[in-house]
Amino acid sequence: MFDTSIDADGIAVIAWNIPDRPVNVMNETTMAGFRDEVEKAIADDAVKGVVIASAKEDFIAGADIDGFLEDLSVEALLPQFLMFDKVGRAMETSGKPFVAAINGHALGGGYETALCCHYRIAADNPKARIGLPEIGLGVLPGGGGTQRIPRMLGLQAGLQMLLDGRKHTVAQAAKMGLVDEVVPPEDLLGRAKRWALDNPDATQPWDRKGFRIPGGDVQSAKGMQLFPAANAMGRERSYGNYPAVQAILSCVYEGCQRHIDVGLRVESKYLVNMIRHPVTKAMVRTGFFEMTKARKLKGRPEGIPKAKIGRLGILGAGMMGAGIASVSAGRGMDCVLMDVDREAAEAGKARAAAPLEKRVKQGRMGEAQMAALLDRIAPTDDYAELEGSDLVIEAVFEDRAIKAEVTKAAEARLGPDAVFASNTSTLPITGLAETSARPAQFIGIHFFSPVEKMPLVEIIRGAETGDAAVALALDYVQAIGKTPIVVNDGRGFFTSRVFATYVMEGVAMLKEGVAPALIENAGKIAGFPVGPLEVVDNTSLGLSLAIRRQWKKDLGDAYAGHPADDVFELFVETLDRPGRKAGKGFYDWPEGGSGGKTKRLWPELGRHFPRAADQPDVEEARRRLLHIQSVEALRCRAENVVTSRADADVGSILGWGFPMYTGGVLSWVGQTGAAEFTDQCNALADRHGPRFAPPDDVAALAA
Ligand code: NAI
Repeated sequence: MFDTSIDADGIAVIAWNIPDRPVNVMNETTMAGFRDEVEKAIADDAVKGVVIASAKEDFIAGADIDGFLEDLSVEALLPQFLMFDKVGRAMETSGKPFVAAINGHALGGGYETALCCHYRIAADNPKARIGLPEIGLGVLPGGGGTQRIPRMLGLQAGLQMLLDGRKHTVAQAAKMGLVDEVVPPEDLLGRAKRWALDNPDATQPWDRKGFRIPGGDVQSAKGMQLFPAANAMGRERSYGNYPAVQAILSCVYEGCQRHIDVGLRVESKYLVNMIRHPVTKAMVRTGFFEMTKARKLKGRPEGIPKAKIGRLGILGAGMMGAGIASVSAGRGMDCVLMDVDREAAEAGKARAAAPLEKRVKQGRMGEAQMAALLDRIAPTDDYAELEGSDLVIEAVFEDRAIKAEVTKAAEARLGPDAVFASNTSTLPITGLAETSARPAQFIGIHFFSPVEKMPLVEIIRGAETGDAAVALALDYVQAIGKTPIVVNDGRGFFTSRVFATYVMEGVAMLKEGVAPALIENAGKIAGFPVGPLEVVDNTSLGLSLAIRRQWKKDLGDAYAGHPADDVFELFVETLDRPGRKAGKGFYDWPEGGSGGKTKRLWPELGRHFPRAADQPDVEEARRRLLHIQSVEALRCRAENVVTSRADADVGSILGWGFPMYTGGVLSWVGQTGAAEFTDQCNALADRHGPRFAPPDDVAALAA
């Protein structure tokens, strides 16, 4: 587990080398092993100093979170953390110098191990990242990070680092003081040994007499100004949904007023509580395990060789087509970008170039890299150019007749194994596939806008779509670095169908006379990036109206109707307030929609929807906005539109920003408790209508 050696000068090198794992991880076994190595080195009189290093490509990648999902008791967890604290303190106070030789990633517990050293030297490795990203998984840096970082950087800079959880490059880390020195990789070990030899009396600042936290202690005037503001900022960012934010603030506030030995115990107790917290479990399960599985294509049909997309055809060089071309060419695919005439196709290529030019200007992309990428996008108006494509994705107007026409024309040019995909956002795939000569090779590949930024792609299996097409679509999505989910066909598929309920519920509340600001704030307090009314303004009320009308037409008498329907009609047809692009919708957008900062809710809303005497409290409104989505997701699960909780959860978080603390749209049911959720939804159904009525056997569907 550890390669330990002692050189002629008496400097011991303890190099982490955990067998059978690609990276060094910290768990009960490896930490006990590390403790033994450290104790041996301290006890050995021949050892004058110790270098902590790694025999792998990276330093230490952090805690092994495999165990996080288990239901461990306080009694099982706390001793482990107290043991690590003890090892860290032994390193700091043994009287021998300890140096960290950081060769690659040093994250979480890995970087905290380095913090127990008296000096930190990093190799100049452009791939290496250094930091404490624990908050991203709902936990806190519990290996001493919340105690040593503020004592090292000061309270303000320390809190910022603990709360933003960023991973830093070596250069950034050096600038922030997270590492003391940067050296060429080949000099790392030699330089670390030299420092240990030159500093036999090294101590930590916090063990020196008269130590003060840089910039002021907790009880200084500065400290007293800092904590109320930090609390407010933490609250503003998390709305109390992420308990780790509060726990980190408490660790720093309580622990940094005391001796570090006491501070470390305070931290360990908070850590145990966080690891056992349902929010942490949900975030780790979905945010780490399920997303990793999705990226590794867990549901890919078996026995089909991996596809490599060399040539990709894209029909329609509009907003979506240009984005698809850009991300695909960026991963080395040759893209044929086709539109009705050459001019439109060229305009699409220019649209793909615009964001790249911005990146070049910001220094985030090289000129040559951009040129090479754009070289791989060939604009055309000729179907013949599609020949040799492994995959064609159509992103033409959302119109069945046009889609049918391009499907036929493109298929005539395709080889026997090529797949044809539609990026439609609303039209069921099975219906579109009826115009295809080869429906087994027809599939939905639904991107989100803006394509360059959004991490999810929803793959839709039509009734006749074959496994080979699903496998190829998955391989393609993986190749462009996005995360796929596979769903079965249905109106709005999975993502649009469920997300629409959030928006529609917000509009229904408006119609009932709920204060508009309350609706919008309830959305944000629930954890969504924007309130439901603003979402409609952004995408346009006209689009919402058109989609509802299409559904009504397709479904006839089966169309259930929704209270929001006539609000859309009123705003689009009577009031001429179609949304942000027009500068007016539920909000006034003073600068023609561009100035998001100056928007305000339309003051006349109250005239059209008089304020009801009985206003919900914000918790009730928040719950309503979350539950309506989970009910719809349960229905999707019952109808087999979505085939697993994991797909629903991952799709909801990455697709439309369903809040991470819930673990996703179906995990939210589990977090609420299936029986409790059912009761709450039945109560909502009594008040607001059958759209809240949960399907049978909520517990099984959400499991
Ligand atoms: P857009 O209007 O920006 O682009 C459509 C392009 O298709 C235009 O350049 C048009 O000239 C071209 N086109 C029309 N008929 C054609 C034909 N016969 N042959 C070749 N090109 C033709 O539309 P946008 O927003 O890019 O949407 C395209 C598709 O993607 C639609 O099906 C839409 O529902 C879907 N989608 C849109 C999203 C969005 O946020 N805009 C998100 C996800 C899917």
